[in-house]
Amino acid sequence: MEFTGKKVIVTGANGLVGLPAVKKCLDEGAAKVYAVDLRISDNLKWLQSQYGSDKLVLVQTDLTYLSHCENLLSMDKINIVLHIAGVKGSPARSSTQPADYLFPMLMFNTNMIKASFDAKVDWFVYLSSVGVYKPADVMHEEDTWNQEETWASTPSRLDWHPGWTKRMGELTLDSLRVQYGWTNYTVIRPSNIYGINDNFAQDATVISSNIWKCFNVEGDDMVCWGNGSSKRDFVFGDDVAQASIDVVKKEVRDIINFGCGEAVTIKETIETIKECYTELTGKTKNIVWDETKTNGDPIRCLGSKRQEKYGILPQTTLKEGILKSMKEYKSRL
Ligand SMILES: NC(=O)c1ccc[n+]([C@@H]2O[C@H](COP(=O)([O-])OP(=O)(O)OC[C@H]3O[C@@H](n4cnc5c(N)ncnc54)[C@H](O)[C@@H]3O)[C@@H](O)[C@H]2O)c1
Repeated sequence: MEFTGKKVIVTGANGLVGLPAVKKCLDEGAAKVYAVDLRISDNLKWLQSQYGSDKLVLVQTDLTYLSHCENLLSMDKINIVLHIAGVKGSPARSSTQPADYLFPMLMFNTNMIKASFDAKVDWFVYLSSVGVYKPADVMHEEDTWNQEETWASTPSRLDWHPGWTKRMGELTLDSLRVQYGWTNYTVIRPSNIYGINDNFAQDATVISSNIWKCFNVEGDDMVCWGNGSSKRDFVFGDDVAQASIDVVKKEVRDIINFGCGEAVTIKETIETIKECYTELTGKTKNIVWDETKTNGDPIRCLGSKRQEKYGILPQTTLKEGILKSMKEYKSRL
C-alpha cells in the first residue's frame, strides 16, 4: 500500500522515531499527516512551516483517554495509523517506577487499537519492543508468540512490566484477528533505539546517557555501569521510522523484529561514543567501569531472518548513527 494520497496518523510524533516518521510519510506523498503527541515541539512546528498546515496537522492530546483517540479517528477518513507512542526510560527507572510505564501504555495502546479498528483504517502499525522476549543470545519471532502458538516464555525480570505491557498490545491486535479476521496490521519489535531527538539524560538508555555524560560530566573520567561485557543490538531512530513505513508499503501481515542483525558489546559501543566525541570536540575521555553496578542481561540480540525475508533492514552503521546523534545533541547545547 503506497502512502501517496493517504491520510495518516503518527502517534508519538515528537519522539525519536515519531518525528522522522512524520517527515518520511510526507516525503512518501501522504495527502495529510496528523502528528499526535502529548507535547508539540519546535521541531514539529518547524516541519509544519516546511510542508504547510494543510498537509501537516499538529495535534496535542493525551491518548490515555479513549474519547481523545476516537475524536482523532473521527476528524477525517484515516487510512494509515503508525502507533509509535511509548513511555521510555532506563531499566533502573522501570524497575522502581513500573506503574509510570504500565498504566499509560496499557491505556493508549488499547485505545488507539480500538479506535482505529472501529474507524476501519486500512493499515495499523504497532511498535512493540525487544522487551517482550526472555533474554537469549538470539531472539526469533517464532520462539515466542506467533499466530498459532501461545507465549512460551516470560519477559526478562529486568524488563518485566514494560515487557508484559508491550505483549498486551500484541495480544489486543490478535484478539481482533481471532474474532473478526482482521489482519491489516504489522507488529514491529525494535531493539534498543537511539538517535537524533533522543532524550539525552543521565538516567536515559545506554547510548543517550553516555553521550550526555561526555558533554555534561566534568573531568576526563566517564564512569560506565558494569564491565562492558554484555551485548546489545542497537538501531538508529530514522531506520525504525523507515521500517514503520516499509511494512505498510509491503503490507507485512506479521510480527517482525527490527534490529541490526548483530549484537555489539557495551564496551565497543561506549568506545565508539568516545571516538566520536574526540572527532567532534578534539577532547578525550577515560572510560572507568563501575563493576558494582549490574551488567543487565548478558546478551540481547534480535534474529533478523524475517527482516531479511521482507527486506526491512537498517541502513545506518553504529558509528554513523552515534556521530549524527552526537552532532545534533552538541548543536542543542
Ligand atoms: N527507544 C527504545 O530503545 C525502544 C526500544 C524498543 C521499543 N521502543 C518503542 O518504540 C516506540 C518509539 O520509541 P521512541 O524511542 O521514539 O520513544 P520516545 O519517548 O522518543 O517517543 C514517544 C513519544 O510518545 C509520546 N507519548 C507518551 N505518552 C503519550 C500519551 N499519553 N499521549 C500522546 N503521546 C504520548 C511522548 O510524548 C513521546 O514524544 C515506543 O512505542 C517505544 O516503546 C523503543
